[in-house]
Amino acid sequence: MGIQIAPSILSSDFANLEAEIARLGDAELVHVDVMDNHFVPNLTLGLPVVEAILARTDRPVDCHLMIDEPDRWAPGYAEAGAHNVTFHAEAAAAPVRLARELRRLGARAGVGLRPATPVEPWADLLPEIDMLLVMTVEPGFGGQAFLDVCLPKIRRARELVSRSGLDVWIQVDGGVSAETIERCADAGADVFVAGSAVYGAEDAAAAVTELRALAAKAAH
Ligand code: DX5
Ligand code: ZN
Repeated sequence: MGIQIAPSILSSDFANLEAEIARLGDAELVHVDVMDNHFVPNLTLGLPVVEAILARTDRPVDCHLMIDEPDRWAPGYAEAGAHNVTFHAEAAAAPVRLARELRRLGARAGVGLRPATPVEPWADLLPEIDMLLVMTVEPGFGGQAFLDVCLPKIRRARELVSRSGLDVWIQVDGGVSAETIERCADAGADVFVAGSAVYGAEDAAAAVTELRALAAKAAH
């Protein structure tokens, strides 16, 4: 699939989501952070707002569920029409069953890993999923500093995916900017979430183009 940029609306103006998503230029995806104030110490939005977004944009919606009990809640996002639905490894009770359910409902299934969660247990389960999300901050808030300590895990994730021969995307999320995106691409990431780096820029569409160019230069 190649390099994809997924701006996170967490850093946008929540009172103007339609316009905020429309000004993302040629970003491949729009990343929507769902937080429940249990899995992470922050509360954002849920299914009704995602449904409203889906009704107002043709851009594929990438839902990042930072919630407890994803086995119960994640299928609703797939049913609503989200392109990707990512649940967290730490929160899922039956991840294989859940991933199969998401796919059955027509979404791509993603698994998120907090900085301290290893990727190795997922090696044999890669055929069940479409994306691994390697968090490069502790999930919960935008605008945090990128954690370089997560780079070796991105590398190991890429090795596992390459060895499997499967087309599993590797997404990075947290502190991704013009300063850090090359390191992520060099380590093997191919889907890049960026919140403050896109919405904090004067021209969001230009920031997307710049990030993609930097990633392309550093990718192998
Ligand atoms: C944080 C969210 C991110 C957040 C990234 O837990 O998962 O998607 O929006 O924001 P930046 O790019 O500002 O670190
Ligand atoms: Zn996110």
